[in-house]
Amino acid sequence: MMDYTDRHCRYLHRLISKRVRLYTEMVTARALIHGDSARLLRFDAAEHPVALQLGGAVPDELAMAAELGSRHGYDEINLNVGCPSDRVQSGQFGACLMAEPALVKDCVLAMRERARVPVTVKTRIGIDDQDDYGFLVRFTEHAIAAGVETLIVHARKAWLSGLSPKQNRTLPPLDYDRVLRLKQDFPSLTVIINGGIGDICEVARFLETVDGVMLGRKAYHDPYCLAELDQTLYGIQPPPRGDIVHEYAHYATRELARGTSASLLLRPAMGLYAGRPGARKWRRALGDLAARKPTPRELREAITALQPGRATAA
Ligand SMILES: Cc1cc2nc3c(=O)[nH]c(=O)nc-3n(C[C@H](O)[C@H](O)[C@H](O)COP(=O)(O)O)c2cc1C
Repeated sequence: MMDYTDRHCRYLHRLISKRVRLYTEMVTARALIHGDSARLLRFDAAEHPVALQLGGAVPDELAMAAELGSRHGYDEINLNVGCPSDRVQSGQFGACLMAEPALVKDCVLAMRERARVPVTVKTRIGIDDQDDYGFLVRFTEHAIAAGVETLIVHARKAWLSGLSPKQNRTLPPLDYDRVLRLKQDFPSLTVIINGGIGDICEVARFLETVDGVMLGRKAYHDPYCLAELDQTLYGIQPPPRGDIVHEYAHYATRELARGTSASLLLRPAMGLYAGRPGARKWRRALGDLAARKPTPRELREAITALQPGRATAA
């Protein structure tokens, strides 16, 4: 998620879950080719398995960006065909690409030729008035013809004119059945369902029918749910929150010393106690800590001391 799932957020999520697959924010192919690719592609080895999401619509550019990503060590390259923002539409990519399945096919073919890792696609169930099941089927057939083996489907269509990106994440109604039907009709395609899923029982139920579940906002705002999922689905003992805080404090200290801002480092940790006593105090305390611009040592000591439920010496 743009401006959210940066490498610090992903590092924290990996401390919480050993099984989840992590995705970067969308990076445009052009930014990678013409910008500071080393900075844009940077990730920690601990993050694996991690996928790089690309935005773009020019096959050669996407191919070059996919090659850069795969050489850099990403485990998967994902093409964004779901983002509805105006900025993205003016570049003629994101969700509006759903209307051009032949171009998506060319993009994926070009990316697959240069990437040494799987190329996947994230899409919507439709756009604007092109929202019947046949439209999604045609899109899927083109993706499969290009060699796509995994399709992530946000179970809500995108309104490209008149709705903001924020409204597009809540307003058009979710239609999970359409994604489940797609899996039935394309049984050998790996189908990952996404959109509005935030409950562990719901995740387990979807996994009876589709191959995976992608969590966006829930994972960001309540990251510890990933440990609870590991426990429910794989029987993995959840790491205590205190251990996660301790390890993340060490990571943040190192990163702060390298010049990353405290607010970038503390932001992903704000949801760590979501739904638990002291959650609000923890969030506020991290906000205050970031504003104080701490030294690396102050940061480490303060994060550890601020944990809810931690006994403090009188
Ligand atoms: C702030 C924000 C940024 C997002 N950025 C991206 C993005 O870069 N790429 C993408 O494929 N989807 C992006 N999305 C969409 C989410 O990945 C997801 O499809 C959507 O939020 C629905 O899933 P959820 O209800 O689990 O959050 C973003 C969503 C939010 C809220």
